[in-house]
Amino acid sequence: MLRRLHKDQPETFAFTPANQKWAEAQITKYPEGRQASAIIPLLWRAQEQEGWLTRPAIEQISAMLDLAYIRGLEVASFYFMFQLQPVGSVAHIQVCGTLSCMICGAEDLIGICREKIADKPHVLSADGKFSWEEVECLGSCANAPMAQIGKDYYEDLTSARFTEILDELAAGQVPVPGPQNGRYAAEPLKGLTTLQDYDSGKTQYNASVQLAVDLGDTIKRIDGTEVPLLTPWLGKTARTAAPAKKKAAPKPAAVKASSAPNVSDATVVEGKKPRTMTAPRKSGADDLKLISGVGPKLEAVLNGLGFWHFDQVAKWTSTEVAWVDSNLKFKGRIERDDWMAQAAKLAKS
Ligand code: FES
Repeated sequence: MLRRLHKDQPETFAFTPANQKWAEAQITKYPEGRQASAIIPLLWRAQEQEGWLTRPAIEQISAMLDLAYIRGLEVASFYFMFQLQPVGSVAHIQVCGTLSCMICGAEDLIGICREKIADKPHVLSADGKFSWEEVECLGSCANAPMAQIGKDYYEDLTSARFTEILDELAAGQVPVPGPQNGRYAAEPLKGLTTLQDYDSGKTQYNASVQLAVDLGDTIKRIDGTEVPLLTPWLGKTARTAAPAKKKAAPKPAAVKASSAPNVSDATVVEGKKPRTMTAPRKSGADDLKLISGVGPKLEAVLNGLGFWHFDQVAKWTSTEVAWVDSNLKFKGRIERDDWMAQAAKLAKS
């Protein structure tokens, strides 16, 4: 299946403050120089927050991890768990269409999705509340057919019960997940034949469903305030993440005359250095993150290079862009996102 970014994208993305804190804490899990390994949890949190992964989110997270945008896009477009198009505001329904579920009636469930949501997968329903897709085996084959809705599994589905579930969700309710035919877990349909004395009724529902009910995350968007931020890897007593270590902004590399590059120098910088400033003006620095493609990390690097204001960026010539580009080590990014035009607009506003 072709996985592309959606044609309609929002202008910007920002984590909620709590999610931002959470994301910065995740990055501390990885050894120095390996922060890029946090890409999947960060992309996932962005999706949990927004429902789907937008281009600004991928850009922002790539910048947070000092990754070229294309690397972030590679990850986002490779894994099917990442939704690259808007999903229903209430729920995105993932119907398993693999063998056991197919034998037990998945086609009927897909038919219901077509009828009640949209004829094609990954298309929003008319009211924008739902979207659906067929997915590969979700590992709940003994309770086929099943669908994942939000974070939870709805198992042992029939057409009638699946229709009811969609209606309940549309009415703002969250049906109890798990088996929908009265089974406790995945015991035989006709009841236990062994371990009949085993007391399985310690909790009202089986362990997965009980946890789902207790947590209540279900179909909610996650803004990071749901659970306390625990960072045991930062030390047993640490309850909140230590502030991310502020890396000293890299010193701008010396500009080499492009006509006589020093080939023995691994940090040859192209182009011409623009006029820079040692500090922002008294009125305070502009928020360079408002330029699409600039995240907190890139902003810090730009400040370290001596750029604090939109009007500075707006004036860059192409040779100056080459200089900044090679200092940022993101070749082509500035021109592709047209930072100068964006900055000129922002400077006027
Ligand atoms: S075949 Fe549907 S969960 Fe495995």
